[in-house]
Amino acid sequence: MSDHPEVDDHSGTETTGHEWDGIKELNTPLPRWWLTIWLGTIAIALVYMVLMPSWPLPWADTYVKGLRNYSERETFAADMVKLAASRGADQEKLANTALDAVRNDEELFNFAMAAGESAFGDNCATCHGAGGVGAPGYPALVDDVWLWGGSLEDIKTTITHGIRGASDDTRFSQMPAFGTDGMLTVSEINDLVEYVTSLSNRAADGAAIDRAKVLFEDNCAVCHGENGQGDRMQGAPILSDTEWLYGGDREAIRQTITKARFGVMPNWQDRLEPWTIDALAVYVHSLGGGE
Ligand code: HEC
Ligand code: HEC
Repeated sequence: MSDHPEVDDHSGTETTGHEWDGIKELNTPLPRWWLTIWLGTIAIALVYMVLMPSWPLPWADTYVKGLRNYSERETFAADMVKLAASRGADQEKLANTALDAVRNDEELFNFAMAAGESAFGDNCATCHGAGGVGAPGYPALVDDVWLWGGSLEDIKTTITHGIRGASDDTRFSQMPAFGTDGMLTVSEINDLVEYVTSLSNRAADGAAIDRAKVLFEDNCAVCHGENGQGDRMQGAPILSDTEWLYGGDREAIRQTITKARFGVMPNWQDRLEPWTIDALAVYVHSLGGGE
């Protein structure tokens, strides 16, 4: 080890002074290109720190804002305001457009469908199933069988006021609980089960059907129609088709006649914006059975 850096004869480079068995370590300087980039990044970082938000100042609950005073959060908030404003225009347009005219405006229709689908998932799918496929007691909305009507206005009224719900204008009807309330005997109900079964062209006990004819006319036809064709004014289901709200096997029919069902659909006018209800009406109407 010497006080002055020794220069290696062969390469002309200074040595570090470390030596092992006659092999000396060279103190090769960093390549210039590497040094330039390194110093460059430091310079950029310094400039960045001056211009942009950099150091936190936790004791003052703030941070060094930088000369450009840029804020990701404020930029985001401004974007959200812009987005809401553009959506707001669509919402207002939808609320002010007659429902049957929405389909003529492709952009508005697409907006209504997207908003309707999303609102349906949030509010309706729990009962009506994903995409409105229905479940026992909860009508399918994808078919063309309607209890109360399948026009845009019918659907909007149903959603707005509900069925047997809390609204003063709710759709309402009540099938009597013929068995529980003692209006019909067990054997009369058994005969009616056969009768209802036969209405959809299924095999049933002929003698029971004959006995039940008058019972049906007296007790059921007022809502379900002479031939079980249903009545939308009362939300009374068609009994002569193969679609069943509560089930079409004998046991389900017996339960319905004995205890009645009283299905409740909530009203939404207090919970959803008018434009959302419009979007839902357009969406449900387009599911397959709109009239
Ligand atoms: C708590 C369960 C429930 C929820 C949530 C619900 N519904 Fe219903 N909905 C029902 C029931 C039950 C009926 C059938 C009532 C009856 O017996 O008439 C019904 C009936 C309907 C009908 C009438 C169908 C026809 O055949 O006339 C429409 C349309 C409808 N619902 C749409 C919706 C929409 C849209 C939503 C979401 C905003 C929704 N429902 C949320 C239970 C529900
Ligand atoms: C006041 C009107 C009214 C009368 C009278 C009435 N129903 Fe109903 N019925 C309804 C309504 C409304 C529904 C379905 C909605 C609910 O209660 O949830 C229904 C449902 C049914 C269903 C279930 C249909 C399905 O798709 O699952 C059957 C079956 C039925 N009624 C049979 C009868 C028979 C049989 C009688 C006569 C003994 C009768 N109803 C009398 C109104 C009536």
